[in-house]
Amino acid sequence: MTEQMFIPDRQRLYHYKLDRVLGQGGTGKVYRGIDTRKGEVVAIKRFRENFFRNALHLRDLKKSVKRFKKFKHANVVQILDFLDDNPQEGICMVMEYVDGPNLRWYIANRPWNLQERLTIAAQLCNGLQYLHDQECIHHDFKPANVLFTRRGLAKIADYSLYGSSFLLELLDRSAGEQITPMFVAPEILRREKASPQSDQYSLGITMYMMFAERHPFLADSLPKLYNCHLRIIPEHPSVVNPKCPHRLGDIIMRLLEKDPAKRFRDCDELRIALADIGRSRI
Ligand SMILES: Nc1ncnc2c1ncn2[C@@H]1O[C@H](COP(=O)(O)OP(=O)(O)OP(=O)(O)O)[C@@H](O)[C@H]1O
Ligand SMILES: [Mg+2]
Repeated sequence: MTEQMFIPDRQRLYHYKLDRVLGQGGTGKVYRGIDTRKGEVVAIKRFRENFFRNALHLRDLKKSVKRFKKFKHANVVQILDFLDDNPQEGICMVMEYVDGPNLRWYIANRPWNLQERLTIAAQLCNGLQYLHDQECIHHDFKPANVLFTRRGLAKIADYSLYGSSFLLELLDRSAGEQITPMFVAPEILRREKASPQSDQYSLGITMYMMFAERHPFLADSLPKLYNCHLRIIPEHPSVVNPKCPHRLGDIIMRLLEKDPAKRFRDCDELRIALADIGRSRI
């Protein structure tokens, strides 16, 4: 982004004063703002016009946000508010502002360091386990949805913005435009129910990218990518990147199992398996 692109196209949203554009994704545009009532710095996601497929989707998210506001975990971005009562201002979700880069930037720019990356993976396990304990499936876990504080704490953002059925609809239509099919679990493509293990698969793709330094599937079209998720066993991460310990590669391969039942019982079990890798290296 050039400096020009950080300048917000509007000065205010509801009772928030905007001072910077933080980024833009499939769901909308994210601004940094100040809550003029509390003086707090926040991030505000303004959903794009046709993000909500129908009134039901909006109602469901609004209802979920009531629950999300109660979530409190160091590795989960806190949701502060949901605003939709002024059509001129649009539909906005207010979140905790996280002041560092995201994991997509980190993977592309930071030198490879096993311990550092294992520490991040453990934090992602903790955050996902917390969400799953609250009966919340993320549905769109990917590196761009992992944000860092300047002190290196990893926080998971944008959980459960899509309901399962809505997710399927998106995959059927114009997947590339709105969601990131690079991280979608095979059972979702098979029209099965999403589960916490579906998030484990997305975490597996993310960890493959962190430790093998490339996406597991080198497909050049959407149908080929879907076929890979459904049927192709990726190369072992430690073959792709010899710096990646074999046992860590095995863990990532288990996350990428086509059958969700063959993945980990939960993210706690995964975190314990990862801790073993860390120890064996000391
Ligand atoms: N709470 C936040 N605090 C600070 N920066 C944020 C926050 N939420 C999002 N961002 C930044 O804004 C950028 C755009 O986020 P956005 O969620 O719109 O896009 P995305 O994650 O790439 O795709 P998607 O829309 O599918 O989630 C992110 O890359 C992130 O760096
Ligand atoms: Mg996002």
